[in-house]
Amino acid sequence: MTSIPGTQVHPDPAAAAHVLATELADLIMLREAKSLPTVLGLATGGTPIPFYQELRRLHSEHGLSFKGVISFNLDEYIGLDRQHPQSYWRFMHEQLFDHIDIIPENIHIPDGTVDELVLRSHCAAYERTIKNAGGIDLQILGIGTTGHIGFNEPGTTRDSRTDIVDLTEETRMSNSRFFDSIDEVPTKAISMGCGTILDAKQIALMAWGEQKAPVVRRALQGPVTSDCPASFLQDHPNATFYLDEAAASQLD
Ligand code: GLP
Repeated sequence: MTSIPGTQVHPDPAAAAHVLATELADLIMLREAKSLPTVLGLATGGTPIPFYQELRRLHSEHGLSFKGVISFNLDEYIGLDRQHPQSYWRFMHEQLFDHIDIIPENIHIPDGTVDELVLRSHCAAYERTIKNAGGIDLQILGIGTTGHIGFNEPGTTRDSRTDIVDLTEETRMSNSRFFDSIDEVPTKAISMGCGTILDAKQIALMAWGEQKAPVVRRALQGPVTSDCPASFLQDHPNATFYLDEAAASQLD
């Protein structure tokens, strides 16, 4: 079944982030009222920064509590220590976790420092932990210019699971803006698979700026193909793209 993902076009990233953060706050409060946890899939990169900023504001100014939230991050670079300035562990703590009341034991981020010999079992355990938490209620995504979601680069199959992945040169080049040089960007990562992501009950993908416009068009209006893993979202019954006007500028 192909159900075209919903698309929201906002004047700027802050406006889109505000809407998505408010929707998440409603979900957390609704589930809390039923004594249910909210299981979140979280993303890194430049894109979700305004969204995390808004969640911090909802916590500090409106008392939104994250005590009932269980989080699973999409991915982590292999070989970066947690405290490395570009590790996704550090990113998440600096951008969000250090500023809210989430219970530390409820935070899950793949560990890119585990021994090579046990990496595969670490990935399998990550999948099991998501299942044992009841599955992801809301998965937050960005999108890479290659069409990647998480770090699932072109060629990844629709049913892939959390695993070790190779980063494309385009992705390493793009992410080198956060490092001193491209040589410092790891070549591998652990990433939830496309199948893991598509199992989420609800998916929200954010994209900003005209450099994302071509890939947003391919993801939403191109063929469903592993050449553009984000196009798999066309098969998800409850996926929405939150865009600014520039990222939506090539849509029909
Ligand atoms: C990163 C992350 C993705 C992210 C994407 C886009 O490397 N692994 O989860 O969505 O690439 O990044 P940005 O938001 O910085 O454009």
